[in-house]
Amino acid sequence: MEYAVECKKLVKSFGEDTILNGLDMNIPKGKITTILGYSGAGKSTLLKHILGLLRPTSGSIEVLEKDLSTMDDLQLRDFRKNFGMLFQYAALFDSMTTFENIAFPLKEFTKMKEAEIKDKVDHLIQAVGLVKESTYKLPSELSGGMRKRVGLARALALEPEIMLYDEPTTGLDPITTKMVNDLIKSTSDKNSDKKLTSIIISHDIQATLKISDYIAFLERGHILEYCPTEEFKKTKHPTIRKFLDLTSH
Ligand SMILES: Nc1ncnc2c1ncn2[C@@H]1O[C@H](COP(=O)(O)OP(=O)(O)OP(=O)(O)O)[C@@H](O)[C@H]1O
Ligand SMILES: [Mg+2]
Repeated sequence: MEYAVECKKLVKSFGEDTILNGLDMNIPKGKITTILGYSGAGKSTLLKHILGLLRPTSGSIEVLEKDLSTMDDLQLRDFRKNFGMLFQYAALFDSMTTFENIAFPLKEFTKMKEAEIKDKVDHLIQAVGLVKESTYKLPSELSGGMRKRVGLARALALEPEIMLYDEPTTGLDPITTKMVNDLIKSTSDKNSDKKLTSIIISHDIQATLKISDYIAFLERGHILEYCPTEEFKKTKHPTIRKFLDLTSH
């Protein structure tokens, strides 16, 4: 199997606190992997290592076959072009229209011409299921679900190899939550030929079980369980059973 991320004995300490405690975890390419765990388990800390925003105290992490520890800040910044990110709040530029938001990374990071950018943005708008009328609206004129779609289109603009979702549905109503989860899944399916890897951090256990290929459960910087979704559902691990029961209604 090919891996997008390979952690070997990954340790991260802040002072006396060890947050990641010898993590061995490989995330397969072209699949959806979700990282679950209680608040404070170290999920976002792991995500920051994948992005090269934090460096390990010991152990190693390779992303897309590159050892991040050998890169300087400039190389890391360049490397981050391989990532698309969608966060809890879509973090759009408020004073820019849908079109301008999605065009932004293309103008910033590529040498594409106006006409090419227009084609690409139109294509992205269609790909995430936005109606044409949204093109010249500001974020404040869009619904929460539509803003997520714009955020996703912008994240996909540079054709990333890895999409990162940190709590993409927290705080959304049930219908929008379903829409965002369907969108994550359809984005993964549509880009399966390009082996787009999706990594999700989530508390939304029901959605996780529906859309993930693999699930990891993190506790105090350890992996308690990491396996295909079907196996995960049957886990006998008491901590995880409790988590599944607590969050299933
Ligand atoms: N820069 C830092 N300095 C010191 N401690 C930190 C730092 N970043 C994270 N921590 C600590 O690491 C622990 C794990 O934090 P992290 O944000 O990874 O948790 P999480 O699993 O994402 O939780 P949540 O579900 O609440 O987002 C927390 O106890 C936090 O206080
Ligand atoms: Mg977090």
